[in-house]
Amino acid sequence: MISWWRIAFGDCEVEKLRESVQKECIGQGFVTEEFEEEISMALNVPFVVATTSGSAALYMALLSLGIGHGDEVIIPNRTWIASANAILLTGAKAVLVDVRSDLPLIDVSQIQSRITPQTKALMPVHLNGRSVDMRGIQQLAGKFGIPVIEDACQAFFSSNSSGYLGTQSDLGCFSLGLTKLVSTGQGGFVVTKNRDVYERLKVIRNHGVTDEFTESYDQFGFNFKFTDLFASFGLVQLSRVSKRIAHLNKIYAKYESTISKFKSLDLLPVNVLSGEIPLYAEVLCPERKELKNFLHFHNIQARIVPPDLNTSSCIKDDGSFPNSMRFSNQGLYLPCGPEQPLENIDFVIDALDDFEHRN
Ligand SMILES: Cc1ncc(COP(=O)(O)O)c(C=O)c1O
Repeated sequence: MISWWRIAFGDCEVEKLRESVQKECIGQGFVTEEFEEEISMALNVPFVVATTSGSAALYMALLSLGIGHGDEVIIPNRTWIASANAILLTGAKAVLVDVRSDLPLIDVSQIQSRITPQTKALMPVHLNGRSVDMRGIQQLAGKFGIPVIEDACQAFFSSNSSGYLGTQSDLGCFSLGLTKLVSTGQGGFVVTKNRDVYERLKVIRNHGVTDEFTESYDQFGFNFKFTDLFASFGLVQLSRVSKRIAHLNKIYAKYESTISKFKSLDLLPVNVLSGEIPLYAEVLCPERKELKNFLHFHNIQARIVPPDLNTSSCIKDDGSFPNSMRFSNQGLYLPCGPEQPLENIDFVIDALDDFEHRN
């Protein structure tokens, strides 16, 4: 079976891990700092705080802005549920906005009508490496004096004309999970340009304790610490990034050149030329179930995209979301991933061709 996602780890990760163990670098320490510095240099952002997951990164970012009960945070209706759950965990309300008709990215023109005096943050999501209209977001944020947290969990190293996604607002949050460009198994990090926010994030990562020896508890936090073992993995994974981006772009180009000729499905576009990275290969197919079963029959795994946030029993929002509904009803991930062999993509393309011409 060709799996929908393929990422590899090798001897270099094992070697670095061995080195860290030999030096007794296990918990959060020097290797984590080195990893944070590498990310800081690579993304050209001054402050990086590594943590246990992208979800934890989002939660810490919200806490660092003092968001809690009675507050509202605006997010798109199409994103992984983690974006909303991080908000709910603070006690704040997740306020949903529909996505654009052409792409599953927040429709900035619909945000203003959802802003209230309780709105304490805008959280655009750069889904699948695509850039949200950050200029529009910044205009709104400036007009209403609301901070912005970019959910860049699916957009590490993706960029637009202003630079790397996740570095263009108050805070940016990234995931290092298994289905990401760089993976430490689990993991994530927050970036910011603001030193005060950075200092708060570090304290939040350690139960709100500023100084472990005097132990004054001035800020709420939790154990969100990273480990040097994860960081050892991460450092090696970072060295693979350019090769991986080139490979993902090749996969995208292969799918694009074929699927553009088909009537039965559409490839959701990613603006590779402007620096967006097509992390996943997402298609829209009105006959999604048939396509998924057809591919399965040919030993190809495809994955249905996650449901919209407004379908969650934990979120009460009776707004109207026609665009996101179309993406969630028709969306399917085709095999992809930084170490997915190109021969597998050719095999999938042949199967897609058979599906297109099946009648
Ligand atoms: C858009 C988005 N936000 C948040 C997260 C949460 O990241 P993690 O799985 O590392 O907690 C993910 C993970 O896939 C994601 O895709």
